[in-house]
Amino acid sequence: MADCGDLKRQFECRKPRLVHPAGAGCGVGTGSYVCADAATYLWGELAMKHETLVPPKGYRVSRRNFVRIASAASAAVLVRITTEADLAYAQRRIARDIPADAILINANENPLGPCAQACSAMADLGAKGGRYEFGLTQELVKTFTEIEGLKPEYVRAYAGSSEPLHYAVLAFTSPEKSLVMGDPAYEAPMRAASYSKAKLFKVPLTKNYAHDVKAMVGADPNAGLLYICNPNNPTGTTTTREDIEFALANKPKGSVLLIDEAYLHFSDAKPVLDLVAADKEIVVLRTFSKIYGMAGLRCGFAIARPDLLAKLEPYGWNSMPVTAVVAAKSSLKHKGLVLERKKINTDIRNDVFSWLATNRYSFVPSESNCFMVDVKRPGKQFIEAMEAKKVYIGRVWPAWPTHVRVTVGTAPEMEAFKKAFKEVMDTPAQAAQGPQKSTEPWRTDRPYPSLS
Ligand SMILES: Cc1ncc(COP(=O)(O)O)c(C=O)c1O
Repeated sequence: MADCGDLKRQFECRKPRLVHPAGAGCGVGTGSYVCADAATYLWGELAMKHETLVPPKGYRVSRRNFVRIASAASAAVLVRITTEADLAYAQRRIARDIPADAILINANENPLGPCAQACSAMADLGAKGGRYEFGLTQELVKTFTEIEGLKPEYVRAYAGSSEPLHYAVLAFTSPEKSLVMGDPAYEAPMRAASYSKAKLFKVPLTKNYAHDVKAMVGADPNAGLLYICNPNNPTGTTTTREDIEFALANKPKGSVLLIDEAYLHFSDAKPVLDLVAADKEIVVLRTFSKIYGMAGLRCGFAIARPDLLAKLEPYGWNSMPVTAVVAAKSSLKHKGLVLERKKINTDIRNDVFSWLATNRYSFVPSESNCFMVDVKRPGKQFIEAMEAKKVYIGRVWPAWPTHVRVTVGTAPEMEAFKKAFKEVMDTPAQAAQGPQKSTEPWRTDRPYPSLS
């Protein structure tokens, strides 16, 4: 047995030191902790990620909490949080070589960035950046809950929604409790489920590109979590409120519905926060990365019944980036912002859609800030050809190998996209691989959707 020197060095510890066998280097999950005070330190290590030692106010390390934390601790070390940035970066192995004048419509970012009010709030905050300023996060949550008619204890702020998304998967799935999701859909939950060792059920979208809720609720009687992204990433298509209510009413007993509303504000999809307020078994995710243009600032919410939020708690906690917090609060208080940005995005998207339709290209009618277009050849090949023209588009989903995801950028960016897209489409697909047929023949034969 030896004192944990590493911890001592990293933290200003208040309690007797963590002790673990053989004096091995400190790391949650690397040894069996034997010290009775371990929970406090596990909290420090697990939740604060080497940043601070103080458990959140009111957090009591009971025996039950300790067991929860301890079991989450090993997961915390093992879990890699998959984010849109991560996936976009992985796609660009040479990200640092992207030319400065490249068009970046690959990661569903908002080219408008944070609104002016958010920027000045951040500038004003400046001198306070040396402190954690927990009170600012409380103010943000209060602002949000007042707007949405929720009680503050139903909302937990995180640095983006990727973390609570992963924690929800870890909390509600296991080798016995599967994850059910759409296909194609955002990959992060699937990756998180690989850490909880949950079985995965990928249910194809309906022919209207909505989540097939009937198939989802019937996919596995032992489902732990049903994930619905509304609007969906990558298709930008929506699932109706009625279908979400159906999923809630008919999901397997004991399972939880995870509704990811990252792109909600771009669309006419109906929000479902009232179902949270009604204490249903539902967790809703919101992020400031999309319509609010704050992907690089990092702010998001998990919204759910307090007992459900408590299940996410052991997997991680950190103080919020204060710049993001004040920017988010100013954005929420800017009453016209969402509608203004929704209109900008819709106008540009519809312009691209009419251009695609006029040129007889096949695409999925998105309501969001991204869409799928069928390039009638292996998507990866097409992406590389676009990159050669300095237009960086999104990735390919295995279920639809000839489709690529494109983010809606600014009007000039989309003009550059159109030009490059046509040039590449006019170039025959590489002979080595040959053009591929879409795996969904019914999709390409359908008439083009109305753009209204
Ligand atoms: C569907 C969906 N959910 C969640 C996220 C997480 O976003 P963030 O962690 O930036 O809030 C993303 C990011 O693109 C997303 O596409």
